[in-house]
Amino acid sequence: MSRNHDRTTVAVVGVGAVGSTTAFSLMTRGVASELVLVDVDEARATGEMMDLSHGAYFTPPVDVTTGGYEECADADVVVVTAGAAQKGGETRLELLERNVDIFEEMIPQIAEAVDDDAVLLVVTNPVDVLSYVTWELADLPHEQVVGSGTVLDTSRFRHVLSDLCDVDPQNVHGYVVGEHGDSEVPLWSSTNVAGIPIGEFLAQRGETLDDENRAALTDQVREAAYEIIERKGVTNYAIALAATEIVEAVVRDERSVLPVSTLVTDQYGVDEVYLSLPCVLGRGGVEAVVDPVLSETERERLTESATVLAESRRRLGR
Ligand code: NAI
Ligand code: 2OP
Repeated sequence: MSRNHDRTTVAVVGVGAVGSTTAFSLMTRGVASELVLVDVDEARATGEMMDLSHGAYFTPPVDVTTGGYEECADADVVVVTAGAAQKGGETRLELLERNVDIFEEMIPQIAEAVDDDAVLLVVTNPVDVLSYVTWELADLPHEQVVGSGTVLDTSRFRHVLSDLCDVDPQNVHGYVVGEHGDSEVPLWSSTNVAGIPIGEFLAQRGETLDDENRAALTDQVREAAYEIIERKGVTNYAIALAATEIVEAVVRDERSVLPVSTLVTDQYGVDEVYLSLPCVLGRGGVEAVVDPVLSETERERLTESATVLAESRRRLGR
């Protein structure tokens, strides 16, 4: 049976800390008319469904339901947040083997249920390698399998710089690309406020941005998740908002440019890898990939990041 195109359905698979907060955020922003919650812990999914539904009085109209993977059948977008999360000090890549086992069991069932034009948004870590695994297992065009990638890291980067420049984060233009993880690459050379390179913008205000400051700010962005997990055990709010932004760009066919994780072929020294580059997002998922202008150092770092991801994938035998 094919989907009802008058309604926008988003399925969230895995309704732990990240999935339930994403469902809440999708609901408050009115992105979906139907939200389907799926979790192996059925009691948890039902509890989240009840709690969210009781808030529907305060939000744009939405039906919240639960079910198995087959209930993803009507989904325009399936957001996958199921799986293990990092414990304090653990890296994202250390989750790989545990979460691949879950994906091998789960993704074929989701793929079997959805329509050919559905978009799968992977959030579970390590998000880049798992996006690759999802693409392989789902047998969908790569444009329709997207990882949340460095949308979150980019938002952290813009937040840190907005504090420094004392402007709204939406007026800081700059991207983090590569792995969502330890080898990520902030693109300092193209970061600007109002079209003015960030270093010059700060100089106009009597502030200096030298290599040492850049390195410290880069560390701050890269280490953010470790800092939060050490204190509260999970990260959930910013990623939920990032996932919502991606889903919204797809279901509303916005053609927004967001640094999602996408398949990159024969670039940055690797044959095939999922990593983040700025992408134009619309109803078909990744409609176009933007080739960023990179300094020599940024190109080297992006190549290193691609190599880290390709090695993780190869260790899986993929
Ligand atoms: P959590 O442990 O709170 O929730 C995971 C949920 O997945 C649980 O409810 C569990 O029952 C469910 N689950 C496990 N196997 C399943 C299966 N086969 N089918 C359906 N549901 C299943 O974990 P949390 O904190 O929500 O994190 C989820 C994932 O998101 C982790 O891998 C974490 O590292 C990742 N994450 C990714 C971010 C990103 O920027 N890409 C940001 C934050 C977290
Ligand atoms: C984050 O960056 C842990 O990947 C997760 O918040």
